[in-house]
Amino acid sequence: MLTKNNIVHLPLAALVAAALMTATSARAVDADAAQALARQNNCFKCHSVEKKKDGPAYKDVAAKYKGKADAQDRLVKHLTTGEMAKFPDGHEEEHKIIKAKDPADVKNLVDWILSQ
Ligand code: HEC
Repeated sequence: MLTKNNIVHLPLAALVAAALMTATSARAVDADAAQALARQNNCFKCHSVEKKKDGPAYKDVAAKYKGKADAQDRLVKHLTTGEMAKFPDGHEEEHKIIKAKDPADVKNLVDWILSQ
């Protein structure tokens, strides 16, 4: 299924996208897949890219982890282990554990967040 999708992409658009993405990260991020996974998991209920909601804006997360070599590992752990999350009203609860078919999809979402 995935390979079929890739073939359908316009070669030029794919090249441009790949060129833009390699400028910011070593591996090309699939932004559409990342946002689709975030939507399926209701991440945007508590997060947005630009603005703080119950959870931090993804831009702020990216800034916090900028230049940190273990950023991807940290955030994959955050999304898969139910760490305690502190809410603005001070209460704490386990962070939502992401549901994804493939661990690579979680990494892709993390890379997308870190590229904001
Ligand atoms: C019920 C609200 C809620 C939902 C749903 C939610 N989060 Fe969060 N998230 C939070 C809160 C609150 C924090 C702040 C945790 C802290 O600072 O202790 C947080 C923190 C984060 C962080 C920053 C972690 C760090 O180490 O700085 C990331 C990244 C994140 N969430 C991604 C996601 C993703 C991706 C999803 C969807 C799978 C998601 N969140 C769903 C509330 C939520």
